[in-house]
Amino acid sequence: MNELLVFDQVEICYHGKPAVQDISFSVNPGEVLGIAGESGSGKSTLIRAVLGILGQGGQITKGRICFQDRDLLRLSERDMRKLRGEQIGMIFQDAGASFCPVRTIGDQICGSLSAHRKIRRRESDAMALELFEKLGLTEGRRILESYPFELSGGMNQRVGIAAAMLLNPALLLADEPTSALDAVSGRQVIEEMRILKELYGTAVILVTHNIGVVSALADRVLVLHRGRIAECGETSRVLEDPQDAYTRELLEAVPKLRRYRSAYRTEPKM
Ligand SMILES: Nc1ncnc2c1ncn2[C@@H]1O[C@H](COP(=O)(O)OP(=O)(O)OP(=O)(O)O)[C@@H](O)[C@H]1O
Ligand SMILES: [Mg+2]
Repeated sequence: MNELLVFDQVEICYHGKPAVQDISFSVNPGEVLGIAGESGSGKSTLIRAVLGILGQGGQITKGRICFQDRDLLRLSERDMRKLRGEQIGMIFQDAGASFCPVRTIGDQICGSLSAHRKIRRRESDAMALELFEKLGLTEGRRILESYPFELSGGMNQRVGIAAAMLLNPALLLADEPTSALDAVSGRQVIEEMRILKELYGTAVILVTHNIGVVSALADRVLVLHRGRIAECGETSRVLEDPQDAYTRELLEAVPKLRRYRSAYRTEPKM
């Protein structure tokens, strides 16, 4: 197997109106692809299309999306459900929303693991505690016994990412994982994702409007503009020598690029 995920000339419409057009790109195993672009450019649409959750009125109208050489558009809903979570993990902007407010974290982690494999609470706690420790999340036991509202937004997001990784998915989709967080929590989330990349070699699609986050994590970056690909290439090349006028515009909108980059470029504590 070569590429993990392939978009081939994909068009997606909402209520018959194209939101993204002529989208072709691929993600290799273990690679981090950043997707950047202004609000409404179609970033989340691409992520939702992979998960098969475009919602009412949303439809892939042209092209193909293949994951591990399987055409996602031909999979049954049952097979898609199996893929989600197990092969393809996801985290979203609103960390709290990925957890149910009235059940403890430990309970929910066990619930999501047992949807995919036979597992008891004691085993799921042990798996979670082991991973928390690797990620420098101290007080793992307390986290498992907490309700989501008892943890900060940053902590919820870090725990949510760890929970998504427990099934060891081949691909992790992250839609604006840091944008609801303050700078310090955002940096911790980025650092956690870097450690996970080292530990698991998971491929990641990282949607963000923050160029600092792209430069800290992404091997390649794809710039979307009004539903089309403006530019796609190695992160350092695109950031230092953008070929497309819109990419240049986007970078100019971040005047303190260097500061952003140094803020996010901390070495992971292993
Ligand atoms: N459920 C929907 N029904 C109709 N139009 C939609 C729907 N979801 C998205 N769109 C439209 O599709 C386009 C792309 O939206 P999308 O949410 O993918 O953008 P985005 O790049 O993720 O933006 P943001 O940075 O604000 O999250 C927009 O024009 C949006 O209005
Ligand atoms: Mg979005």
